[in-house]
Amino acid sequence: PRYWAVVPAAGIGTRMGSDVPKQYLLLNNRPVIEHALQALLKHPKIVKVIVAIADSDHWWANTSASRHSRVQRVLGGTERADSVLNGLLSLQGDADADDWVLVHDAARPCLHRTDLENLIETLRHHAVGGLLGYPLSDTIKRVNDQASVLETLPREQLWRAFTPQMFRYGALQAALECARSSALQVTDEASAIELAGLIPQLVEGRSDNIKITRPEDLELAHFYLNQHSR
Ligand code: C5P
Repeated sequence: PRYWAVVPAAGIGTRMGSDVPKQYLLLNNRPVIEHALQALLKHPKIVKVIVAIADSDHWWANTSASRHSRVQRVLGGTERADSVLNGLLSLQGDADADDWVLVHDAARPCLHRTDLENLIETLRHHAVGGLLGYPLSDTIKRVNDQASVLETLPREQLWRAFTPQMFRYGALQAALECARSSALQVTDEASAIELAGLIPQLVEGRSDNIKITRPEDLELAHFYLNQHSR
């Protein structure tokens, strides 16, 4: 099987409180998305990287990643899952059902090459696939609209779900299409795969593979990136 990557980058990032979507904010003088693409583009096994870009986007064309020979752009969708599905559809005819697809957030700039390598090596003979993650250190509460605590979840069983998430092309497309047609809310690929009755494998990665969500995350990512290059 071959390896493909899909990078959803069509979000507008309302939690950042910035006019520029978070994937285009600058980190070490380069947009966040270029950092997110770097590990994927450096990996020798990944044939092509499909990037899902919003219709209204006027930043992508100015990135150097947009001119990379192994990068291809598709139109994003309303939800993250729609953006990923558009990416998968663009691979029709090229990818085989049992090829691997790695989906990685454009807003996750600190993916370390050793994590990517470890994910691929751990899962390459797996029937379903899986994702990078990290065990939780905080206790997690489920709350109502007024933030009153409804219950405390058992922490030993809880992990944070990161990206890349790596699944077979055919199974991932079917799972995302099924989730869409039943209007089920899926915030990552693994949840679509789970709804299809399959069991993803979690692969413990580095805790610094954060998603830029709030303004303070950018400074944290800056710190982590500089740690990586030391
Ligand atoms: O909003 P969230 O942080 O979950 O977004 C995760 C990733 O999905 C981001 O890289 C964002 O650009 C992307 N996304 C997308 N299409 C959407 C919404 C989010 O490609 N409609």
